[in-house]
Amino acid sequence: MSERGLCPRNRGGRYTRLRLALSAVSLTRNRFACGRGGYPRPSGVGAPPSEKGSGMRELDRVAELIVRAERPVVFTGAGVSTESGIPDFRSPGGIWGRFDPDEFTYQNFIGTEEGRRKYWQLGRQLYAVVRNARPNAAHYAIAELHRLGKLDCCITQNIDNLHQKAGLPPEKVIELHGNATRARCLTCERPYSRDEIQEWLESGVSIPACTSCAGIIKPNTILFGEAMPARETLEAESRAKSSDLFVVVGSSLVVSPAAMMPLHAKRAGAKLVIVNLAETPHDPYADVLIQDKAGPVMAEIVNRVKSRLAGSRSVP
Ligand SMILES: NC(=O)c1ccc[n+]([C@@H]2O[C@H](COP(=O)([O-])OP(=O)(O)OC[C@H]3O[C@@H](n4cnc5c(N)ncnc54)[C@H](O)[C@@H]3O)[C@@H](O)[C@H]2O)c1
Ligand SMILES: [Zn+2]
Repeated sequence: MSERGLCPRNRGGRYTRLRLALSAVSLTRNRFACGRGGYPRPSGVGAPPSEKGSGMRELDRVAELIVRAERPVVFTGAGVSTESGIPDFRSPGGIWGRFDPDEFTYQNFIGTEEGRRKYWQLGRQLYAVVRNARPNAAHYAIAELHRLGKLDCCITQNIDNLHQKAGLPPEKVIELHGNATRARCLTCERPYSRDEIQEWLESGVSIPACTSCAGIIKPNTILFGEAMPARETLEAESRAKSSDLFVVVGSSLVVSPAAMMPLHAKRAGAKLVIVNLAETPHDPYADVLIQDKAGPVMAEIVNRVKSRLAGSRSVP
């Protein structure tokens, strides 16, 4: 099916674009932002709802979708971790504002000493941040969905291990781009903890080499230009296709093939929710779109899920 065929305008599906202004503890100001990104409001959607009630209604709607879903999947990107102090790539002030992405390719890393030296210069800085980062309200909310029996799995593009730190069992996390806490020798496969490599870097080593065979050591993360991990990619695709609700949290949805996951889900009939500060290319396909911070939004949604589940349990 073409992407056009998915457009809610053509399917008469409900499509709402909202910008919610949430404080960490309360909903204060909501603004309807339909049309700002050049997407005409689809037919079937009425006049902009009243400012405050509309935001509440959208959070309630997502909570209701989660309660009803049998196989809800959450899909996260770097935006879920910015509130933990880890910069994303593409927001203003993001990593690609300070470094040239073309230099940090797999080919440069494997092919040249200079590529590896530059990679480890950046890696040393980034890992210091990742290692000390703590999960935020969004990570905890997603872990809470699991405890409530409302999470089939969390597919993540992140490498920061924060879903696991928040209490999500590792088997529930599908890491599409690897995990920055581990490294290995590309020749003899000897595993290394990234903490150990960090110690080498901090003691003056500029290009770590395997202590067994002098081979190239590489973190277990996927660089641009590198093949995706087959098992995780297939598993993520299959979970996306069998989900009945697919919730994107904090991703620009421009890095492929990860960015195709929401479309796999939508094409297979799932409802699509996108929670992201900036617009994404898949916004027109969202059943609910919330343009605000992941932490407070996800915490509010999970509060509402819990209230509903508690309410339904107390009904005789
Ligand atoms: N924490 C990490 O592990 C980390 C950090 C940087 C980059 N990455 C890598 O970045 C690649 C890029 O894809 P991506 O889409 O994940 O990142 P991206 O940088 O392309 O996009 C991040 C998106 O998150 C949104 N965002 C930022 N803060 C947010 C917040 N508090 N609440 C809601 N939305 C917020 C931004 O508007 C942006 O659209 C991935 O491959 C990932 O591996 C990961
Ligand atoms: Zn080796």
